[in-house]
Amino acid sequence: SRVVKLAVIPGDGIGPEVIAEAEKVLDAVAAASGLSVEKTRFSLGAGRYLETGDTLTDADLREIASHDAILLGAVGGVPGDPRLRDANIERGLLLTLRFELDHYVNLRPSKLYPAVPGPLAEPGEIDFVVVREGTEGPYVGNGGSIRRGTPHEIANETSVNTAFGVERVVRYAFDLAERRSRRLTLVHKTNVLVHAGGIWKRIVDQVAQEHPGVAVDYLHVDAATIFLVTNPGRFDVIVTDNLFGDILTDLAGAVTGGIGLAASGNINPDGAFPSMFEPVHGSAPDIAGQQKADPTAAILSVSLLLDHLGLRDEAQRVTRAVEDDIAARGSAARTTAQIGDAIVARLQA
Ligand code: NAD
Ligand code: IPM
Ligand code: MN
Repeated sequence: SRVVKLAVIPGDGIGPEVIAEAEKVLDAVAAASGLSVEKTRFSLGAGRYLETGDTLTDADLREIASHDAILLGAVGGVPGDPRLRDANIERGLLLTLRFELDHYVNLRPSKLYPAVPGPLAEPGEIDFVVVREGTEGPYVGNGGSIRRGTPHEIANETSVNTAFGVERVVRYAFDLAERRSRRLTLVHKTNVLVHAGGIWKRIVDQVAQEHPGVAVDYLHVDAATIFLVTNPGRFDVIVTDNLFGDILTDLAGAVTGGIGLAASGNINPDGAFPSMFEPVHGSAPDIAGQQKADPTAAILSVSLLLDHLGLRDEAQRVTRAVEDDIAARGSAARTTAQIGDAIVARLQA
């Protein structure tokens, strides 16, 4: 039977709570299909930093990279915790993994499942995917400040957009659009960010010539937030830079019934490095340790992981079990574990 070597990083806050449920579901689907999952657990995040002072050592990175895929919960402590002031766990851990493992596609699907109560009165059909660039843009850390703390402080954060980096993610987005409803929307802010926006627009226009069957349009990011609320059905594939993609996908999560349902994959399409799957949400310190977190986003991330590994049947079984559970959700509050158990039960039914 097939063996999958999986690195598991539960992380901080609700991370371990939702990952426990995601693992239950993965174990159940593996058992049913004769798949053997060899897990290595990595204790990383704010907790590890406070104990040891380490964020991610070279040895951690090398060991993680030797796996077939990574499942991550969430990392980051309570915003403003003074003990974490010098740490920046998000950059030192999460972004380092995305950059070092060349996760240039951050894939974030958004779907409004039937019977899910969302904030929109007439949502229509919502089913789109945000292809968020994962290794460049304003996230690269190419910044600095001088005269810190003085009235003359100057702080810069540079957005880095390379032809190589933009073209490869744009090509991925067009290929995805070909397999979906053949509509692709570039989101940027070309009216103001003329250099960064310019390279994105030119490369999209170029690659579009190779995909005459794909209808291409463009929206400024501010207008895109309007349409995500007033007419989300207009979207199929959205391709955008790292920061805009971050913001749009929290909004997309909210519009499709809550951030507790939003899954993601940090993909290295070339297969040179393991891809990493995680819920879109963070460590949610406000509800951590209370079994209040919805593990569905983490469980749907397992489905994306299985699909990425070519285990399509297994991926679909997980998605279907989640859909069945979502369709049957009433208004009664359930614990994190109760939701996980219910999805496992649907899987085994
Ligand atoms: P967050 O996503 O953790 O929380 C935002 C809101 O959504 C909170 O009210 C939270 O309770 C709620 N929420 C999140 N996940 C939920 C779930 N599964 N079920 C129910 N409710 C849920 O965002 P934040 O508060 O801005 O960030 C908290 C920490 O997490 C910060 O340190 C941040 O940097 C980090 N973070 C990490 C990741 C990641 O690891 N991928 C992603 C985002 C934020
Ligand atoms: C996300 C998070 C991260 C991001 C942070 C924690 C670095 O918000 O995965 O969406 O901005 O990419
Ligand atoms: Mn985010």
